[in-house]
Amino acid sequence: MDKNELADSDRRYIWHPYTQMKDCENAPPIPIARAKGVKLYDPDGNFYYDTISSWWCNVHGHGHPAMIKAIKEQLDSLEHVLFAGFTHAPAVELAERLIGITPPDLTKVFFSDNGSTAVETALKMAFQYWKNTGIKGREKFLSLDMAYHGDTAGAMSVSGVNLFNSMFKPLFFPAYKAPTPYCYRCPVSKDRDTCSIDCLTRAEDILKRHSKEIAAIIIEPLLLGAGGMIVYPAAYLKGIRELSRKYDVLLIADEVATGFGRTGSMFACEHAGIQPDLMCVSKGITSGYLPLGATLATDRIYDAFYADHAELKTFYHGHTYTANPLACSAAVASIDLFKKEDTLSNAARINTRMRSFLRDISDLPIVGDTRDIGVVGAIELVRDKRTKEPFSMEQRTGFEVYRRALENNLILRPLGDVIYFFLPLCVTDPELEDIFGRAEKVLRSI
Ligand SMILES: Cc1ncc(COP(=O)(O)O)c(C=O)c1O
Repeated sequence: MDKNELADSDRRYIWHPYTQMKDCENAPPIPIARAKGVKLYDPDGNFYYDTISSWWCNVHGHGHPAMIKAIKEQLDSLEHVLFAGFTHAPAVELAERLIGITPPDLTKVFFSDNGSTAVETALKMAFQYWKNTGIKGREKFLSLDMAYHGDTAGAMSVSGVNLFNSMFKPLFFPAYKAPTPYCYRCPVSKDRDTCSIDCLTRAEDILKRHSKEIAAIIIEPLLLGAGGMIVYPAAYLKGIRELSRKYDVLLIADEVATGFGRTGSMFACEHAGIQPDLMCVSKGITSGYLPLGATLATDRIYDAFYADHAELKTFYHGHTYTANPLACSAAVASIDLFKKEDTLSNAARINTRMRSFLRDISDLPIVGDTRDIGVVGAIELVRDKRTKEPFSMEQRTGFEVYRRALENNLILRPLGDVIYFFLPLCVTDPELEDIFGRAEKVLRSI
């Protein structure tokens, strides 16, 4: 299929995610024919830096020989089998590895096939945990008001209400929302010098009044991704874990975006030294090669479901592609690469270069805030630097940066007016120089 046929057929048959299809009349989707390392290539050989790791998935780079080999070898023996009543080596090997690299209290792995299903699984496990232990009334959740946990109904219910999901609000189940520790726009009017994590008291106020109704707190550790790449202090996460213990509420860590090295440690929970009751992983688990999700649970949770069949404590939940063998093999290969290539050590190198770039552009009048953690760096664009007044929606400033960045071979897909980098851990120093040089040129042109 040549480039023009592809564009025509795309327009005729495809409905893309998060896309107003009418916009495609002027800006059709860019066809990608192949990819290597941190670069995507169109059919004419033009390249784009995959600066957001293909929606935060890619870790080791595109076309990594070890990843390709693992998937091909698995394909020769078993592509898929149902996972109720059957098992297979790739799933068992992966579960062993996951248990080996996640916080030690997590001892069991429940597979699914994407981030939202990993979250739905955790929410339902937490909900049923209290039923199985005979404690009544624990039917609600507590989350942050700018969180993003996915697009399925349960995941939306514990996410912030925003432009994307407000339409579906009548479908949401009840969840209490605590203010996000959004340091640039502090919910308790402190600044970074005077901060003593006072915003935590707002979460505690909710727990004081409602803990007997709450099954679990769900939180993105240290980095709220789609909410605007908001980086918050480890002390807040530590405080949330302490509160969850004090009020005997379960804690779900949603590491779908942060897991697998993105924040500089394998999992973001490590920065705060906390152990959640449930942990959701996806995205980077296969380094972006195949879809897979997993929810990890502690013995406390697992044991509450372990009973004679007649006690009706079974977890009746599952997805057709649960623990797909090809995806599990990709995940095993990806985790092994972390060791073989000392992948994690790249995060500090990338972060140092990113910080120097963020410092260089921080004086621009449209740059309100810069924030970073590990391979993630964000720039919040504002109309007025002094008052922090945002640009109006109609100005579509973030989108304008995206458009100009594409002309400069960068994919800076914005979150509103937050421009961000979510780099794969394989990016080299010369590539970083080139990427940040191009990004600076784009930002200075706005
Ligand atoms: C923290 C977090 N949780 C859950 C999800 C949902 O994952 P998926 O898009 O694979 O359903 C995302 C996706 O961006 C995410 O960032």
